[in-house]
Amino acid sequence: MNRRRQIYEGKAKVLFEGPEQGTLVQYFKDDATAFNNKKKGTITGKGVLNNHITEFVMLRLAEIGIPTHFIRRLNMREQLVREVDIVPIEVIIRNIAAGSICKRLGIEEGAPLPRPLIEYCYKEDALDDPIVAEEHILTFGWAAPHELEEIVAHSFRINDYLSGLFMGIGIRLVDFKLEFGRFFEEGQPPRIVLADEFSPDNCRLWDAETNEKLDKDRFRRSLGGETEAYQEVARRLGVLPESGPGDPKGSEIVQ
Ligand code: TMP
Repeated sequence: MNRRRQIYEGKAKVLFEGPEQGTLVQYFKDDATAFNNKKKGTITGKGVLNNHITEFVMLRLAEIGIPTHFIRRLNMREQLVREVDIVPIEVIIRNIAAGSICKRLGIEEGAPLPRPLIEYCYKEDALDDPIVAEEHILTFGWAAPHELEEIVAHSFRINDYLSGLFMGIGIRLVDFKLEFGRFFEEGQPPRIVLADEFSPDNCRLWDAETNEKLDKDRFRRSLGGETEAYQEVARRLGVLPESGPGDPKGSEIVQ
């Protein structure tokens, strides 16, 4: 067996050294966590579904000119990506009030926001990823002013495009989280690219007719039907894997 070097293991993904210099293999696990690891569980087949959903979204975003780390999907659970230096900021865009903003500001879940709202969290597990302002990002140098400007512009463009894309399949894009990285190419200044994933793990998706939750809130709130919800998103996007997420080929880490 060809054993690869593991670079990093996160809560829902593992990164391995890629086949060529400057590439990584991103492996999607079935593990689910919520509330910064305080709740742990498994969503059967989630990794397979998130791999396919992320592939679809990254390809569509590349088509509209958003640079991403995505190269290609390798198999049921893995995709080849460019190695980037992750900017330690989670960018959250909200269209409808849900989750932490409701608690923080006393807003009712489901209230449409007057305009899309951007928030930032500092990526530091030991601090539970605290919410921070643009001033913190610039003062502490987590991103340079021109990088942050690009991150903000990409994030709103992604929101506009994906809101329409999901509405086209009867789903409201309530909110989502993005991560960006710096991609280094010889002889060129580092470029900001979209990294990580885009899946029901990091966004809220509500059925446009019934408001049924089709995302990780099913797990966070112990509503049940997690796999079915993720499958429904993949099915509507037209990327539900033929053999289904329970496919044994997709269930083990292949090394
Ligand atoms: P929140 O309402 O908990 O702040 O989450 C806003 C959005 O960001 C929601 O779609 C879930 C996503 N998110 C992550 O992907 N990772 C995280 O660590 C957090 C806190 C939120």
